[in-house]
Parts: sequence; C-alpha cells; structure tokens
Amino acid sequence: MEKTLTLLGERSAEVFLKDYWQKRPLLIQNAIPGFQCPITPDELAGLACEDDVESRLIQEHSGPSPWSVEHGPLDENRFSDLPETHWTLLVQECNRYVPELAALLKQFNFIPHWRVDDVMASYAPAQGSVGPHTDQYDVFLLQAFGTRRWQISQAPVTPDNQLPGLDLCIMREFIAEQEWLLQPGDMLYLPPGVAHHGVAQEDCITLSIGFRAPSHAEIITSFSDFMAEQLDASQRYSDPHLILQKDAAEISPAALKQVRDIIHSTLADDAAITQWFGQYITEAKSTQPHTVENEPLSLQQFLQHYKQAGTLFRNEDLRFAYSAPSPSESATLYIDGHCFALNSEVAFAATLLCNHDELNYPQMQTLLNQPAFANLLHTLYNLSYVYFEDA
Ligand code: SIN
Ligand code: CO
Repeated sequence: MEKTLTLLGERSAEVFLKDYWQKRPLLIQNAIPGFQCPITPDELAGLACEDDVESRLIQEHSGPSPWSVEHGPLDENRFSDLPETHWTLLVQECNRYVPELAALLKQFNFIPHWRVDDVMASYAPAQGSVGPHTDQYDVFLLQAFGTRRWQISQAPVTPDNQLPGLDLCIMREFIAEQEWLLQPGDMLYLPPGVAHHGVAQEDCITLSIGFRAPSHAEIITSFSDFMAEQLDASQRYSDPHLILQKDAAEISPAALKQVRDIIHSTLADDAAITQWFGQYITEAKSTQPHTVENEPLSLQQFLQHYKQAGTLFRNEDLRFAYSAPSPSESATLYIDGHCFALNSEVAFAATLLCNHDELNYPQMQTLLNQPAFANLLHTLYNLSYVYFEDA
C-alpha cells in the first residue's frame, strides 16, 4: 500500500482507515488538484432519458408538500419544463458510461474493490438539493463542477425526524454543526448515518463514490438460498428412533435438537460461505445487458487473435474479485457471479486479472506457454469476460 495518496491529502491510507473510515467525516480540500469534470450536464440529462439507466429527478417546492421525486427514464422534454432553480438530477452507475469515472474508482484502491458500489453523478442548478438526509453507506462526495455548500450534523437522527410519505429519507429538522463550500477537486468523506445537506451555489455537478455493505438479512437470505439449491430434496427430517411421548402435542427437545443440527451443519460450511460470498458480491448490480459479446473461438484461434490484437481488455462492466486461502497453492477467481477454481499452477492469474484491465500480449507471451493459463484466458474470452478491441 502506498504511503501517501494525493486523494487523501497528507494522510496515508492506513491513517485514513484507522481514524476516519466508518468513524468520522473528513473534508479533503484539493483532493484531486485541477479536477476536470468528465461529464457535462447535457450528457447527464441524456443518460437520464435512457431506459436502462437508473436516474431520479428531485424537486423542492414551496407549499405543503415541499419535495417530489420522479424516477427515470425521463422524457427529453421534461428538462425544458423545469424551473431555473431548486432541482437535482441524480444518475447512478456513471462509472459504466464514462470511462474517466471508471478510472477515477482506481484512486479508491485503499478500500477493497468489492466494497465499491458505484459513482453517482448529480447535476443541480443554483439552490438545487436533495434535502438534508442520512445514507446507510459510506460515501466520498467529490465536487466536480461549480460550488456546493455542504452542511453536516453528527447528532443521532431519530426515526420520527423524517418527512412522511416520500420516496426519499429527507429529515424534518436539520441543525448544521459544520459547513464548507466545496470547489472542484474538493472531497468530503462521510461515514454511514451522518446527516448531510448539500446545496448548489450555482450550476454544479457532484460525484458520489458510494460503497456497499450487504445487510445481515441479505447475507442470510442469499446464503441460505445458495445452500438450499445444493441440497437434495430426499434429505429430510427422519426419526426412526422415535419413542412414545407423554404428550403428542409437545415438540420434543430431541426433535428440536435434530432441526438445530440440520441448520447448524448446513450453514457452518466455511468453503461454501467463501464460494457463495465471492459469487454474490461480484454479481451485476443492474440487469442491463453486457456490452461485450464475443464469437466463441477455439484455443488456437484465440491465441492467434491475441497475438494479432496485442492487448486483451477486461470487460469493465463486470466485477472481478478473488479469494485465496493460501495464495501460493490455490485461488478462486470470481467474475460476475461465477467462480473459477485456480490450482497452484495458475493461482497467480487471480491477482493478475483482478488488478489489470489490460493484458499486453508481449508481457503475457511466456505465461501463455502454460496451458492452464492459456486455457483460462480462452475460457474467459468465450464467456465475454475479456475482449479484443477490434472484435
Ligand atoms: C447530491 O449529489 O446532491 C446528493 C448526494 C448525497 O447526498 O448523497
Ligand atoms: Co447523501
């Protein structure tokens, strides 16, 4: 891990993690000096009109119901009807549509890749805001264009301090404890649960680098579904040693022990937990179709094509991760909800593939002499997890 990262100011990544991550807010002025916003307001509006893009338009009104939210896709004409001030357009997963934003995520390499959710972009004219609120996730708010005033409060937010009947968690009452004006390149880190209120001072774009943390309920539901799929329906509760009970109405301690044993022994399978989590956490966030579709090739054709094309690219639409109980012996590579067991011969490919979005042929040539490695890349190619630019 690097000692200092521009993104974190003078702090090392270790200090950030120890003192701030999930603990307290941090303002980093000039986190990215000279930051140029890679997306324009018009491009964001264009994305919000597309079917597969998740977007929201939030407006603040005067009168008895002060907020409204509309979910995309929005009609192109919607934007010409909007007032000059007091609205915000939010577009999720902009890292999928803007390569510079996918590249921006690499600067957050001090947090495990699987914890990253997406880069959301918001555009607002003067006075635009989504209201004071809390989020359940960690977020880095990077000012990309224009100036935004951020106010925060670390006081606990009670459940009754929430405006009812809204598709948004806007607070009824918000008393700011700290406030800053963020200019392009400035960044505010907020742990989950810190109330915040960002108001555009002029036309402004803010990028939210959001993190994910599955709820315990999601973990238990998804893992038990995964295990249930592997269980044979013929495995059933059985009681060949049943003895006569005093009262047939009672669920006996012996019956309960057997049920507990089924649950504990099924769920306490560490290898299954590892495989399930790798698959679960690399599954695509949205159901949007993948952008790469390769024609299947034979191994020979694939190697020939690789030599000619020169570079093999990773499909940036997909999440890559690996687990390695003993990295020199084996590893499991996870891509888009699928897993690949890599033995000692090819375990090195897990970190190689997860940390490089391009593999240049000249650098891979010696490794490609190893059949296990060549076969792995070939398999990933035929699954459209990697591609050649000319394809
Ligand atoms: C915004 O960009 O306006 C809202 C981002 C947030 O509060 O999470
Ligand atoms: Co927020």
